[in-house]
Amino acid sequence: MRSESLLVLLFAAFATAHIVISYPGWRGNNLITNDTFPYGMQWMYPCGGIGTTTNRTYWPTTGGAVAFQPGWFRGHERANIQVNIGYGTNGPDNGPVDMSNQMVPVIQLLGPSNGPYPGTVCFPQVPMPKDANVSVGDKATIQVVEQAQHGAALFSCVDIEFAAPGDPKIEKVTEDNCFNSTDFGFAEIYAIATTNPVTGKSYDNVKNDAVSTRSSLGLISTVVAAGLWALL
Ligand SMILES: *[C@@H]1O[C@H](CO)[C@@H](O)[C@H](O)[C@H]1NC(C)=O
Ligand SMILES: *[C@@H]1O[C@H](CO)[C@@H](O)[C@H](O)[C@H]1NC(C)=O
Ligand SMILES: *[C@@H]1O[C@H](CO)[C@@H](O)[C@H](O)[C@H]1NC(C)=O
Ligand SMILES: *[C@@H]1O[C@H](CO)[C@@H](O)[C@H](O)[C@H]1NC(C)=O
Repeated sequence: MRSESLLVLLFAAFATAHIVISYPGWRGNNLITNDTFPYGMQWMYPCGGIGTTTNRTYWPTTGGAVAFQPGWFRGHERANIQVNIGYGTNGPDNGPVDMSNQMVPVIQLLGPSNGPYPGTVCFPQVPMPKDANVSVGDKATIQVVEQAQHGAALFSCVDIEFAAPGDPKIEKVTEDNCFNSTDFGFAEIYAIATTNPVTGKSYDNVKNDAVSTRSSLGLISTVVAAGLWALL
């Protein structure tokens, strides 16, 4: 069925691992634990131990899809997921100055089990942050953060160059590269305290577009991927 099945097979050999960004690409394989990264590369802030890359992938100036496979390690029956963007190349390692601009505010992923699991999550239209001001040709880095049940976070990134929406250089978003596996659930995370004691600002009045578009379950079946997993 999907190219994801192939990825499942490719990476099944090192199932001690965490997030694979399947769209629009990733910096490279950081599903690695060795003497340099004894706890595993993906725990390294900000991009899971891989430096800024030059083989950038194209992404629309108006925002676009981000898809990833979150279940490459045990301990993620529940995980908090967040997607951020950092602009430019003037920061450390010729990457962004910081990665603090949120695109997908934290959402809880409910995985099918606490062991490693297959499956894909896709946000089909991740919006640019409100204050973003990007032009065709600008460079940026998208960061996917997966916070595990014990509180520590895994990082994976992809370096992008902005292109005009519809530019053929941008990989097409399809049901094959952007879907939610049916065995994932999602939960919203919100605070009970609604007023900041210092500013007096009431959080009840803060409307968040991303929250209103969240649905409770994924859509498209991944029978083949799930079947493959059962064989491994
Ligand atoms: C960039 O190159 C690395 C190393 O070959 C590869 O693993 C990665 O998938 C590439 N990234 C993109 C976005 O093409
Ligand atoms: C561990 O893996 C990383 C990524 O491939 C590599 O840069 C590093 O040199 C490796 N360390 C050792 C001790 O092999
Ligand atoms: C947006 O970026 C352009 C080009 O870099 C710049 O000329 C313009 O002043 C910026 N606008 C805002 C509101 O920052
Ligand atoms: C996957 O689920 C998330 C969270 O509910 C949602 O925002 C997203 O639109 C879904 N993706 C697809 C392709 O339906």
